[in-house]
Amino acid sequence: MKVIIDTDPGQDDAAAIMLALGSPEIDLLGITAVAGNVPLALTERNARIICEMSGRTDIKVFAGADRPLSRPLVTAEHVHGKTGLDGPNLFEPSFQLQDGHAVDFIVDTLMNEAPETVSLCPIGPLTNIALALQKEPAIAGRIQQIVLMGGGYFAQGNITPSAEFNIFVDPEAAAEVFACGAPLVMMPLDVTHKVMTTKSRVDRIRDIDNPAARALVEMLVFYERFDEEKYGTDGGPLHDPTTIAWLLRPELFQGRMCNVEIETTSKLTRGATVVDWWGVTKRRKNALVLGDVDADGFFDLLIERVANLG
Ligand code: RIB
Ligand code: CA
Repeated sequence: MKVIIDTDPGQDDAAAIMLALGSPEIDLLGITAVAGNVPLALTERNARIICEMSGRTDIKVFAGADRPLSRPLVTAEHVHGKTGLDGPNLFEPSFQLQDGHAVDFIVDTLMNEAPETVSLCPIGPLTNIALALQKEPAIAGRIQQIVLMGGGYFAQGNITPSAEFNIFVDPEAAAEVFACGAPLVMMPLDVTHKVMTTKSRVDRIRDIDNPAARALVEMLVFYERFDEEKYGTDGGPLHDPTTIAWLLRPELFQGRMCNVEIETTSKLTRGATVVDWWGVTKRRKNALVLGDVDADGFFDLLIERVANLG
């Protein structure tokens, strides 16, 4: 499977990138960084650090948008720490950022690869994806599928009572992506809140005992403290790697085709994903909205694949 991951690392983004790099089924064509959890200068650096921790300095990393389409950037250092990857000792990556803009890489790759053979996996704000669609609308018919972490329905929001962070940061971009017509898989908080980094699961990752797993454990121990306090849970939701897990083993998940629209005008509910789960409108069913997951099966897969990272 040919994949581009669009990301704002982020400790849970790191788990997603490691799952992809540890899975031989995935040919990771490139990683495109976007401003989100922390500013772009950090998310692109973090993406390269994560690749290096995984022994993969060959991966192409591009920098993309440093702010949303039309709003000021909102970041989440309170969750991810000042670096965006707090937890392990970080280092200056030994390989360079690719020249060229992430949006050009996304467009060129989709126009040059055979149609419907490249999947996009956005796990941060959707700014880069929307800019690529604006630059070359023809890519919408060439994307195999967009598998995104974002939104919430019964689970509602996490950065506001009604909005999930990735959608909240750039609702206009999200609206363009959900309207683009490409096959869309939405991995909302309704699913990611069911994959909690419990102590026993983190201990199993620690037992892998390779450099990537050691770093991931340090990331998760830092990252989960915020959600444990907020939700009173053992561990926190491991949002982003669920998208990669869906690519690898979709049978771990359950959901249904729904219409999804994005709130972009209301101050109170900006970024809300309005999911017509019960089919009460005639609006186009534009996304496979997932609602349930085999959490143990997900962690078994994550642990099995991170163990492949020499
Ligand atoms: O709301 C969770 C999402 O926001 C995850 O992608 C996390 O990394 C942050 O980007
Ligand atoms: Ca993310």
